[in-house]
Amino acid sequence: MQLIKPNLSHVLSYINSLKRGWHDLPTGTSAVSVKNKIDEIQENPTQFLEFFDDLDARALPYLLPDQTVAYAVPSLRRWIWDEHKMQYCGTISLRWQKGTTELPPHLMGHIGYSVVPWEQNKGYASFALGEILKVAKLQGLPFVYLVTDISNKESIRVIEKNGGILIETFTKPPMYGSGHAHRFKILLVV
Ligand SMILES: CC(C)(COP(=O)(O)OP(=O)(O)OC[C@H]1O[C@@H](n2cnc3c(N)ncnc32)[C@H](O)[C@@H]1OP(=O)(O)O)[C@@H](O)C(=O)NCCC(=O)NCCS
Repeated sequence: MQLIKPNLSHVLSYINSLKRGWHDLPTGTSAVSVKNKIDEIQENPTQFLEFFDDLDARALPYLLPDQTVAYAVPSLRRWIWDEHKMQYCGTISLRWQKGTTELPPHLMGHIGYSVVPWEQNKGYASFALGEILKVAKLQGLPFVYLVTDISNKESIRVIEKNGGILIETFTKPPMYGSGHAHRFKILLVV
């Protein structure tokens, strides 16, 4: 497995994953919006690939499930790739604000990830988190926060395997559905 910054040769495998009914778009994205996304990528794959490195937060704002507008912050997005099957397996993103470990209200954690259901429990997310932590350290972050629902046992395990320390359990803001979540901290500088 590898963490890659995708190029045109990787895009078809990602589109095939979207066509199987899975997506890594914001929670609550409708089937119609996923279909529109597929069309958009097929029409202009180069533009789609443009913002995987967005150090200057040039990406357009996007909508949260409750329609709150979320503005872009510096981010790096990578794909989890099976180099043997030549197959897309998942996405991981790092986002932060320059010169601070604070996050804006619309972002609960520095890192988000998901793995396609048909490749889960094979170690992909654990590997990807380990790799993106190295990237976060290179960006100068002394630690990162990760937030996961208290029921998300798989994600909790992934975070703990990568050194996550439980900081608090809290109620998510309404824009994220108000459920209970754990906040973990992973130290990058010891
Ligand atoms: C969370 C997610 C990314 C994990 O991806 P993954 O590639 O399957 O994760 P890994 O294979 O690296 O590790 C999963 C771990 O959880 C464990 N696990 C699986 N089901 C579990 C359960 N019900 N209870 C406890 N642990 C469980 C696995 O055994 C494995 O641990 P191990 O390596 O010690 O055996 C994936 O389930 C996913 O995409 N979920 C939907 C999106 C999501 O929740 N993202 C995280 C938001 S914070």
